[in-house]
Amino acid sequence: MGNGIQYRIPSAFLSFPFLLFVFLAIPSQHCTASDTLTQSQQISVGQTLISSGQIFELGFFIPGNSSKQYVGIWYENIPIHVQKFVWVANRENPLTVTATDSAPSSLTIGKDGNLRLLDGMNNTVWSTNVSVHSNNSIAVLSDRGDLTLKDTVSGLILWESFNYPCDALVPGMMLGMNTKTGEKRVLSSWLTAEDPSPGKFVCGITPETPPQGFMWNGSRPYYRGGPWDGWRFIGIPDMGQGYTNGFNLLPDHQQGSVYLTMDTNNTSHLKIMILTPTGTLKIVHWDEQVKNWYVSWQAPINPCDIYGVCGPYGVCNKDGTPICECVKGFVPNSTEDWRKGNWAGGCVRKTELLCQKNTSSLASSGKAQNDGFWKLSDMKLPDHFKYLYYEDSSGCQQWCSSNCACVAYAFVTGIGCMVWDRGLMDIQQFSFSGNDLFLRLSYSELGKDKKNEKFVISFTTISGVVLLGGFMYGLHKWRANERLKRENWRKDFDMDDTMDTSRDTLQENVQSSELPIIGFDKILVATDNFSTTNKLGEGGFGPVYKGKLEDGQEVAVKRLSRHSGQGAEEFKNEIILISKLQHRNLVRLLGCCIEGEEKLLVYEYMTNKSLDTFLFDATKRVQLDWVKRFHIIEGIARGLLYLHRDSCLRVIHRDLKASNILLDDDMNPKISDFGLARTFQVTQELANTHRVVGTFGYMSPEYAMGGLFSEKSDVFSFGVLLLEMVSGMRNTSIHYHETYLNLLGYAWELCNESRASDLVDEVMVDSCSLFEVMRCTHIGLLCVQDYAADRPTMSTVVLMLSHEIDLPHPKQPTFTIQGLSNADLRSQCNKIFSMNKESLSIVEGR
Ligand SMILES: *[C@@H]1O[C@H](CO)[C@@H](O)[C@H](O)[C@H]1NC(C)=O
Ligand SMILES: *[C@@H]1O[C@H](CO)[C@@H](O)[C@H](O)[C@H]1NC(C)=O
Ligand SMILES: *[C@@H]1O[C@H](CO)[C@@H](O)[C@H](O)[C@H]1NC(C)=O
Ligand SMILES: *[C@@H]1O[C@H](CO)[C@@H](O)[C@H](O)[C@H]1NC(C)=O
Ligand SMILES: *[C@@H]1O[C@H](CO)[C@@H](O)[C@H](O)[C@H]1NC(C)=O
Ligand SMILES: *[C@@H]1O[C@H](CO)[C@@H](O)[C@H](O)[C@H]1NC(C)=O
Ligand SMILES: *[C@@H]1O[C@H](CO)[C@@H](O)[C@H](O)[C@H]1NC(C)=O
Ligand SMILES: *[C@@H]1O[C@H](CO)[C@@H](O)[C@H](O)[C@H]1NC(C)=O
Ligand SMILES: *[C@@H]1O[C@H](CO)[C@@H](O)[C@H](O)[C@H]1NC(C)=O
Repeated sequence: MGNGIQYRIPSAFLSFPFLLFVFLAIPSQHCTASDTLTQSQQISVGQTLISSGQIFELGFFIPGNSSKQYVGIWYENIPIHVQKFVWVANRENPLTVTATDSAPSSLTIGKDGNLRLLDGMNNTVWSTNVSVHSNNSIAVLSDRGDLTLKDTVSGLILWESFNYPCDALVPGMMLGMNTKTGEKRVLSSWLTAEDPSPGKFVCGITPETPPQGFMWNGSRPYYRGGPWDGWRFIGIPDMGQGYTNGFNLLPDHQQGSVYLTMDTNNTSHLKIMILTPTGTLKIVHWDEQVKNWYVSWQAPINPCDIYGVCGPYGVCNKDGTPICECVKGFVPNSTEDWRKGNWAGGCVRKTELLCQKNTSSLASSGKAQNDGFWKLSDMKLPDHFKYLYYEDSSGCQQWCSSNCACVAYAFVTGIGCMVWDRGLMDIQQFSFSGNDLFLRLSYSELGKDKKNEKFVISFTTISGVVLLGGFMYGLHKWRANERLKRENWRKDFDMDDTMDTSRDTLQENVQSSELPIIGFDKILVATDNFSTTNKLGEGGFGPVYKGKLEDGQEVAVKRLSRHSGQGAEEFKNEIILISKLQHRNLVRLLGCCIEGEEKLLVYEYMTNKSLDTFLFDATKRVQLDWVKRFHIIEGIARGLLYLHRDSCLRVIHRDLKASNILLDDDMNPKISDFGLARTFQVTQELANTHRVVGTFGYMSPEYAMGGLFSEKSDVFSFGVLLLEMVSGMRNTSIHYHETYLNLLGYAWELCNESRASDLVDEVMVDSCSLFEVMRCTHIGLLCVQDYAADRPTMSTVVLMLSHEIDLPHPKQPTFTIQGLSNADLRSQCNKIFSMNKESLSIVEGR
């Protein structure tokens, strides 16, 4: 047996923020250089198992000055003074190190097939305690840091250390729960830097819908990451917009489980999330150059991160003095306490809500104004929400208005409708990346704060709410759009090196574009003075009207919003691009008009409006049988190919989506709305923009994340569109109540369950060729792959659609269902996609 050499580290090391438990006794020699422990072997003090890639090591260790000995897993190649134990077996039952150490402890596989830790007296100190049916089991330490107990006869994994997290989450591990089995996986801190036994702090996710990231101090909430929106926890503004943060939440409805994973794109890059004994959650990375860890993220980091520091209805702003403030319409419950900086009592409503008043006394008091909503922007949304299934924010708002108990609501992209019916707890004012919270206030509290132009909805009577809903929603949308547009335009102006947008240059451009100029007076006549009855909708930079020119030709007129200086650039962009592009799958520009402040574009009129008005309409989507859909898909593909390759310019559309595909009389698709399009050099593979524009749900990861766009960003959007055409579902409309995934993840999940045909829109199941639909699903999944390089080009897509080439197997879209990547899944998907026409016709039975 080898004797452990006890290392002491200078106390200076103690100040390293995240290395709180790095003093240890690690054996100096490895007597066992194997990753496997078999039934005939044992590990004693001084011997270790080393994973095959020499990343992790398992053995006995003594933390710091402690006299206790443990069995755990650490990194093989990391110096002792910065070592990190990612897992400890007997954290609650340490071995006592005696001076004589006469009877050595050992880790062995017992007669019952379980891995057990024996002390000097042959007592079991710790064991895996599972039932092993065969007489032959082995323990293996993997390069992921997972110790598994395997039945060599059946090949099954009977037990694994990943299922029993300690204070560290390494890539590949999962945190979460299974509501059916009651299993819970959480991180629990060490008690102290030298004592691995469970400390006060616990970190995990909650079983709510949607789940929240949470940390508790004992049984009390301590830090809240907020609900998961499909990409990130929305209460963590610096978490990054999905994809790159490496985190993912995997729900499995059949199993009743939900798990959080942390992935790494590079297995040799060491990364862990750890919960320190003092209650700080950190993500640390190993820096091989400086031979130390660096912290990339930690929480809680400021006083506002502590759960509920300002009490109910108190908002915490880390830059405020004091940090706590009551939300509008509320005052401190105890002014005394509040002044003393004891905010936990929170705030109370100043003016009672109308809906709470006694209606009979109300009747006598005569006229009473109605309650309304006050918008708080950039908030960390409060705890104790209820999730409701509503497609849009107007439904959410209506529900809240008609339930007096509802004190606030929010509609969050990726989640949907959230409402609150009790004291709003743990609200924080973020400086960026927060959400809008709509707070219910009595009429007298609304609109007083004139200097802050904020959004207010007031409703007249509870029963009238539903009628008014449409209008309010319109107003809300209009305001929100206006704000968004203003911001986008401002950003565009500030950040993009804009070309000169003065009218003179515009006029020159227009003249050089050889585009017919149409007089404003003619347009006024054609659109009946822009009458609202002629309004078709809102385009990229202004309203669109239907019109009829003198010669009887029907046109669509796009009117640039007058107040927007910056829209002019998009206007010009569109003129220049579109006038040079001629393709039957691109909408045709007939002329334009620039007079005074007015800038207008005149297009051919599309009788069937846009694709989304059919595809996502309960009644009209029946008209889109598969033949029509496939025709539309092919048309869009050709239009895009023309933009990318065949036109004299090389154009990236950047905002391809169902509402930008217009349909003519014969349902021929025409790509429209080039306001955001960009040309770029053929030599330039990737362009970068500071300003990410486009539409959530259609944006490729690299574009949404880093503003990088290439033609492959359009290919991604095309893939989304393809899956929408097959399923008749919006990519973003799959809400928590059905599945936590978006359409891309859903498509993949169905494929996983060999049910890819379930994706097919029910209204066209009878009219479609299953073979062609499956092929399109396959192409769609190829187009939405994570890495731009993996996606096909549009020319390949066109060939694929025409059956001219074989389809490769798509890679799993990891940002939606990372972590499920096992061989089974892949082979199943391969099976589906390798079905040929013959076998399918048998399946179809026609
Ligand atoms: C370990 O013990 C030594 C001597 O007793 C002491 O100086 C040192 O601070 C201790 N280290 C820790 C981490 O407690
Ligand atoms: C522990 O068990 C082993 C093997 O069964 C045996 O050789 C050894 O003497 C035992 N030690 C004690 C202290 O009982
Ligand atoms: C082993 O598991 C059984 C039931 O699964 C349980 O009753 C028992 O207490 C466990 N033993 C240990 C040492 O954990
Ligand atoms: C396990 O049992 C089988 C028969 O039941 C026997 O042939 C084999 O040798 C046993 N293996 C071990 C490791 O005991
Ligand atoms: C954790 O809770 C305990 C009481 O339960 C309290 O004394 C301690 O200060 C808390 N720790 C932190 C860091 O808030
Ligand atoms: C891997 O992820 C890290 C951040 O998590 C990023 O800095 C790095 O560029 C990524 N590498 C690759 C090859 O994607
Ligand atoms: C992976 O990470 C290691 C260590 O951080 C680094 O040396 C290597 O270049 C990375 N590989 C890639 C493909 O990013
Ligand atoms: C306000 O304070 C009083 C007395 O301190 C307390 O009884 C009451 O519950 C508090 N109200 C709220 C809403 O917290
Ligand atoms: C409402 O007010 C009327 C008259 O003011 C009173 O008789 C009745 O008890 C009140 N009801 C409640 C629930 O307070």
